[in-house]
Amino acid sequence: MSSTPSRRLNIHNINPHVKKAKYAVRGELAVKSEEFRAALLGGKSGLPFTQVVSANIGNPQQLDQKPITFFRQVLSLLENPELIEHEGVLLNQLGYKPDVIERAKWLLKHVGSVGAYSASNGVPAIRQKIAEFLEKRDGFPASQADIYLSAGASSGVNTLLHVICQNDKSGILVPIPQYPLYTASLSVLNATCVPYYLDESKNWGTDVDTIKESYESAKAAGIDVRAIVIINPGNPTGASLSEEDIRNVIEFASQEKLVIMADEVYQTNVFIGEFISFKRVLRQLQKEFPGKYDGVELASLHSVSKGMVGECGHRGGFFELVNFDEHVQAEIYKFVSIMLCAPVIGQCLVELMVNPPKPGEPSHELYHKEYTAIYEGLKERANALHKAFEQMEGVECGAPQGSMYLFPTINLPDKAAEAAKKEGRTPDEFYCLQLLEATGICVVPGSGFGQKPGSLHFRTTFLAPGTEWVGSIVKFHKEFMDKYR
Ligand SMILES: Cc1ncc(COP(=O)(O)O)c(C=O)c1O
Repeated sequence: MSSTPSRRLNIHNINPHVKKAKYAVRGELAVKSEEFRAALLGGKSGLPFTQVVSANIGNPQQLDQKPITFFRQVLSLLENPELIEHEGVLLNQLGYKPDVIERAKWLLKHVGSVGAYSASNGVPAIRQKIAEFLEKRDGFPASQADIYLSAGASSGVNTLLHVICQNDKSGILVPIPQYPLYTASLSVLNATCVPYYLDESKNWGTDVDTIKESYESAKAAGIDVRAIVIINPGNPTGASLSEEDIRNVIEFASQEKLVIMADEVYQTNVFIGEFISFKRVLRQLQKEFPGKYDGVELASLHSVSKGMVGECGHRGGFFELVNFDEHVQAEIYKFVSIMLCAPVIGQCLVELMVNPPKPGEPSHELYHKEYTAIYEGLKERANALHKAFEQMEGVECGAPQGSMYLFPTINLPDKAAEAAKKEGRTPDEFYCLQLLEATGICVVPGSGFGQKPGSLHFRTTFLAPGTEWVGSIVKFHKEFMDKYR
C-alpha cells in the first residue's frame, strides 16, 4: 500500500495573513464563471445560457473593447524593431503613419530593448514625459525624480502600503465601499484597515465628518492612523470628489498628519462632475496659504488599465510622490528595486497614454475617433444598464457617474435572506450566485466591497457589449423576486 508523503506546506501552516485576505472580484463566483466558460468552450450542454459575461472586473479588452490603434502599432515596432527597417511596407501596405515610426524610434532610443530591465523606478525619459503630462494636467510643476513606474496601480499601492505600515497598529483610512485591493493588502500586511463610509444618499459622497468619526474611534482604540485612501473617481461608486471635498480632505490630512493616497486610475472615466486631481488642489492650497500645507504628503496613482486605454494586461502604471522625506523616498526606491522594474512594455504604454498623438499629427484623427467612440460607448452602456435597474423591483441605483461600474442597492425578500442563511451565504452572495447560474453573468456581491450593515448591493461593470445580457438580468431578477416573495 502506498501512502502519499505528507507535504511541508498545508493550509494550517502557511502565512495566516494571506489566508485572511479577501478579494471577491476574483473570488468564488469568478472561479465558477471560468468553469462555466470552459464547459461552454468544451461544447458541454446543460447550462441554461450560451455565454459567460464577466461583469465582475473592469477588464475592458476581455469584453471586446478594441485597443487604440496608435498604441498597438507603436508597441508592435518596439517588440520587433526590425520592422522599422521596412518603412515603405509599414507606411504603404500596413497603414502605419509616420508618427508611429517616429515614436517607436524615440522610445527605442531611450529604452534600448524592451526585453531589458530598466531603471528600478522606470525609464528616465518616460518619467520626464509623465512629469510633463502632470504639469499640463494640474498647472503646477512636477519632477521626474518623484515619479515611479509600476506594474499597474496595484503594485504601486502594494509598495506604498508596505512602506507606510509599520506594524499591526498602523491604521489606514479606507472608503467603504472600496476596491478590495486595499483591504486585502492591509490583511496581508497585518496592518489595520480603518473604514469610513461613503454616503449613498448623496451620490456616494465623501464626507469629512464621517472620516473624522472613524479616525477618532480608531485613535481611541490605540490605532496609529497614518494615511487616508481616496478613490477618485470611485470604485465601485463612480463618484468624483468636488474641489470642496478635496480641500476638506487635505485640510483634515494636514491637521492630523495623514499621508494621502489618491487612487486616480479612473480619471478619464467621468460622466457626471469633473475629475480634479489631489495634486492640483494641494498645490492651489499651498499657493493660497503659504506654508500652511507644506507638510502634507501625497501619493497619487494612475494606470493604463482603465480609461479609454484599457490595457490591463500590459500592467503599466505610475505614482507620484509629493513632499515625502528623502530617506523615506530612498526606501521606496529600494523596495521597488527588489522587484527590479515595472514591465518595460507597460512603461512604454504609460508614455503613449500620457503623450498621445496631438491635433495635426498624422495619427491624431484615428486616435481621437477611437477614443471618443470608446468613451461614448461606455456612457451609452452605463445609461442602458441604469435604465434597466430603474425598472427592477426593489433595486435603487443612482445615475452612472463614472469609473466602469454601477453599484445598485437590492432590497430582497425575507424568504431570500432565509434561503441564503440555509446555504451559509449572505443574501447578496446568494443572489449573485443564482444570477450566475441562471444567466452566465458574473457580478460581485456588495459584501466584497463593504456596505453599511443591513444594506445589500452588487457591483457590475457596464463594459459588456450589446443589450441581451441586460435583458437577462431583468428577467432573472423578476423570477428571483417571484420565487422568494
Ligand atoms: C480603484 C482601483 N485602483 C487600482 C486598480 C488596479 O489597477 P491596475 O493594477 O490594473 O492598474 C483598480 C482595478 O480595477 C481599481 O479599480
